[in-house]
Amino acid sequence: MMMFDAIRFRDDFPALSTGQVYLDSAATALKPQPMITATSDYYRQDTANAYRSLYQQAQRTTQQIETTRQRVAELIHATSPQQIIWTKGATESVNLVAQSYARYTLKAGDEIIVSELEHHSNLIPWLIVAEQTGAKVIKWALNDNHQLDIAGLKQCISDKTQIVAVTQMSNVTGYQPDLAEIVKIVHANKAVIVVDGAQGILHSPIDVASLDIDFYLFSAHKLYGPTGLGALYVKADKLSQLAVWHGGGKMLKTASFSGFEPQLAPEKFEAGTPNIAAIIGFGATLNWLKQWDRLAAEAYTLSLAQQAEQDLQSISGFISYRATTSPILSFNIEHIHHSDMAVLLAEQKVAVRTGELCAQPLMRRLNCSGVIRAAFAPYNNQQDVLRLVNAVHTALDILR
Ligand code: ALA
Repeated sequence: MMMFDAIRFRDDFPALSTGQVYLDSAATALKPQPMITATSDYYRQDTANAYRSLYQQAQRTTQQIETTRQRVAELIHATSPQQIIWTKGATESVNLVAQSYARYTLKAGDEIIVSELEHHSNLIPWLIVAEQTGAKVIKWALNDNHQLDIAGLKQCISDKTQIVAVTQMSNVTGYQPDLAEIVKIVHANKAVIVVDGAQGILHSPIDVASLDIDFYLFSAHKLYGPTGLGALYVKADKLSQLAVWHGGGKMLKTASFSGFEPQLAPEKFEAGTPNIAAIIGFGATLNWLKQWDRLAAEAYTLSLAQQAEQDLQSISGFISYRATTSPILSFNIEHIHHSDMAVLLAEQKVAVRTGELCAQPLMRRLNCSGVIRAAFAPYNNQQDVLRLVNAVHTALDILR
C-alpha cells in the first residue's frame, strides 16, 4: 500500500547525511539509495551494451531499458511505451520537437506561442526554429498576478498559431497553469501543445492521455534520477509526423551508400548507444517511487514552503514571488543583492540557487535582476525550514 512517511523517505537519501540543508531540488533532486545501487551494479558487474549482443548481460541490459521505458509510460499515463523517446534531458527534448516536428510543419508567417513563464530551454529552441522557418514567436504574457490566464491565451492565439509551449510548473514562482483548459483552447484552434514537465514531474503527477497533450517532456535528474537522461512523450498521431533527428547506429532498418530506411519510433530517434547506466538507475528510481503516496508527499512539501514564506515575511523588505500552491519559494530582500545572500547562506551550509534561474524574460517581468530560490522536496523537514530562516537572519545581520 502507498504511504508517505517523511522520516523514512528522508532516510533513503545518503546525500543528506552531510548535514547540509539542501534547498536546490528545482535545479536537481537528490538521489535515493536504490538508484545509486542499481547504477553502481551496472558498472561493477553488469556492464554491457544494449540491443546488440546475445550474451546474458547484454540481453538483460536491453530488457532493463525497455522495462524503464514502460515505467515512464505508466508514470505519465502514456498509452504505449513506444511513445516514450529517450533523450539527454528536457532541453534536448524541446530541441527534438522543434527540429523534428516544427521545422517541417511551420511556414513563414506561422506563430509559436511561448509563455512568459518559460525557462530558456522552452524558449530558445522555438526562437531557433522560428528563424529557420520564418515563423514568429509570440509571448503569452503573465497577468498582474503573475499567472497565465486563459483570457491572455485567447488574446494571442489565432489561425496562425501552430504550436503553444508552456510549462507544467514555473521554476521561479512554482505557478502551475491550468493545462486542461489550455489544451482545449489550443486544440480548438488546431494547434499542438508542448508541455515542459521539468519542474512539474517532481511535484505533480500528470496524465498525458486524459489531458490530451501532444508533447510532454522532463529530465530524469529532477525526479530523483541520474543526470544526462530525459524522456519525451509524443502523442500517437504526432509520432509518424516526426522527421529523423540524429543519425547513427540502431535508428535504421537498412543502410547503404545511397540512403537508409529509418526504424519506427522510438528507436528512430535514439541513434547510438543510449545512456544505459542512467536508464537502469532511473528504472530503480521509478520502482522505488511506487511505494510512496506522492500526493501526501506533495502536501507535506507545500507545508514546508508555506512555513518558510510565513517565517520570512517578518523581515522588512521581504518580497516573495511564490505562487499560492508552490513548493518553490523565490524571494528577494530589498537593498540586498541576491548573490550576497546566497554566499552567506552557503557559508551556513544552506544550499539555494540564485540569479536569473535561466529565465531572463521572467526576471524582467518580475522587475528584478535575480532571486534567491529555496526549492523544497519531500526529503526536507521542519529543521531545514528553521535553518534557512535563521541563516537568512544571520546573513542580514552581516549585510545590513
Ligand atoms: N532549470 C533548472 C533550474 O531552475 C536548471 O534550476
